[in-house]
Amino acid sequence: MSVAMEGQENWIGNEHQDVLAKNMLKNLKEEAAQVVSKCIDLESSQVARLLETPKDPSHGQLSLPVFFLAKELRQAPAQIAKDLADKANQELSDQAKQGSVRIQPIEKVEALSGFVNFHFRAAYLQQVVSQSLLQAAEEQIGASGRGKGKRIVIDYSSPNVAKPMSIGHLRATVIGQAICNLARSQGFEVLGLNHLGDWGVQFGKLAWAYQSWGQEYDFKEKPFESLYAIYVRFHAEAETNKELEEEGAKTFKRLEDGDEEVLALWRWFVEISMKEYQRLWDLLGVKHDLVKGESFYNDRLKPTEKLLEEKGLLEESDGAMVVRLDEENIPPCLIRKSDGASLYATRDLASAIYRMEELKADMNLYVVGVDQSLHFKQVFKVLDKMGYSWAKDCHHISFGMYRFKDQGKMSTRRGNVIFLEDVLNKAVELVQKIIEEKNPQLPNKNEVAKQVGIGAIVFNDLFYDRVRNVDFDWERVVDFEGDSGPYVQYTYVRCWSLMQKYSQNIESEFKLELDSPEEKELLMFLMRYDEVLNLAFESFKPHLVANYLLDLCRCFGHFYHRHRILNASEPELVAARMSLVHATEKVLKSGLSILNMQAPRAM
Ligand code: ARG
Repeated sequence: MSVAMEGQENWIGNEHQDVLAKNMLKNLKEEAAQVVSKCIDLESSQVARLLETPKDPSHGQLSLPVFFLAKELRQAPAQIAKDLADKANQELSDQAKQGSVRIQPIEKVEALSGFVNFHFRAAYLQQVVSQSLLQAAEEQIGASGRGKGKRIVIDYSSPNVAKPMSIGHLRATVIGQAICNLARSQGFEVLGLNHLGDWGVQFGKLAWAYQSWGQEYDFKEKPFESLYAIYVRFHAEAETNKELEEEGAKTFKRLEDGDEEVLALWRWFVEISMKEYQRLWDLLGVKHDLVKGESFYNDRLKPTEKLLEEKGLLEESDGAMVVRLDEENIPPCLIRKSDGASLYATRDLASAIYRMEELKADMNLYVVGVDQSLHFKQVFKVLDKMGYSWAKDCHHISFGMYRFKDQGKMSTRRGNVIFLEDVLNKAVELVQKIIEEKNPQLPNKNEVAKQVGIGAIVFNDLFYDRVRNVDFDWERVVDFEGDSGPYVQYTYVRCWSLMQKYSQNIESEFKLELDSPEEKELLMFLMRYDEVLNLAFESFKPHLVANYLLDLCRCFGHFYHRHRILNASEPELVAARMSLVHATEKVLKSGLSILNMQAPRAM
């Protein structure tokens, strides 16, 4: 089996490429490939795969590198490119003479060193944008049907009861939700799952701590804070008083044996914690489909161990039961401790079996930090050894850590954890201040500040390739003009306000050909959207969407600053430009919703 590896770009495999919905860029590629295949001895599907999108828009919309032909043709690439471009132009003019009714997609073909560049007509680009964006319903924008009939389980956010969600859980939460959204856009049925950390010896400790010190805390007014406080206190006192560990273990034993009194406390702790998390999930707009905490697997642990035993995989080691993974050169997977207690890994074996066999998932994803890489490697390997062929469909979607540029500046530290809620609140406050300065008349100020402040934190997280660490710098996070969420939302607001000011219906077909470089570049950029979603899904990397949106906003900025829109010279031109604005608005809105961000209409 292939264990998911960091940096591995494509886990879906190429066999699915052909079932991809026809995307916008693909239309263009097919057009160029057909012309090329008439000129050289190569199938158009092969040519299509070789086509690239040039970085410099003055090089046209697609580019074919011809270096690969040099050896066979025994010619310099520059010469090959020139000959091919000549032939292609001849082919295009022959086609034009045959006088078909449709728009000729390609205007001209140019050779540039070892490349053949294709310049498409703006009218053709507009036709594609019109069909795929302007005439499409909101949920069709960027969508594909590649996942039709397939189910994905995504384990994300999954906090630990009694512990506050820290900034570290932000990543597990927002990357997970973005991957859910991406998968849904690709037609998969998605079950977002919360693998709540709700079992283990710490619940014995908590119950004991509550029974001993509970009355000293204000559980009525501040239930979650009090719960966390006794948790912290237990660990602090256990440092010097070894008996506490024993008390905790004893109380956990009572819990495992079903003692009603301890069970009731445990249920209450879970309830207090879930209420707290729910508030944060609501703020972030995060929604799980299922909660299956660690305790859910209690009944399934013995059967799982039995299976391991039957397969001859279980071995004793210092009184504990383990599965050896020597051939992988990794430490053994611990299944049961010497005191009989089950472990995190055992639960994850049971949970994978549940998801694949009972929930009938086709793919099982875990959005969890890089610090748990070894754990998942072990679990997946054990599943493989158990003979589950689906072990290869389990993937650890790992991510790096937060790094704060200036720890000292974080006025939000309580103890040594950085609370997610504090970070969100601070972002909202900062945005409130900016709005007070820049746009004090704004209606609904507080609501907008919330959308923008929280969006800023979410965007900053998703902007980085998840395998990297996140540099957190407050100034950058809320910079309305930088690589930030507010900048993307602000561009959205620009589009929206143009649409509000335009008193007429926006046409879903372009009234005029818009062929300035900025307009063509924007058209081309819009056309990339569905491919970006595809790639982001394949590699489970939402940062591709975040970075695309920033580039799209820059592209829109060039158009916006260069051209008059509402007061352009003639009504048809205004109409055509407004169609372009509307297409941008649709893509921005879709992209923001993939990242689980709001699209405010004013800010
Ligand atoms: N509760 C764990 C943590 O906060 C994450 C759980 C991830 N999911 C899993 N199936 N192990 O570190």
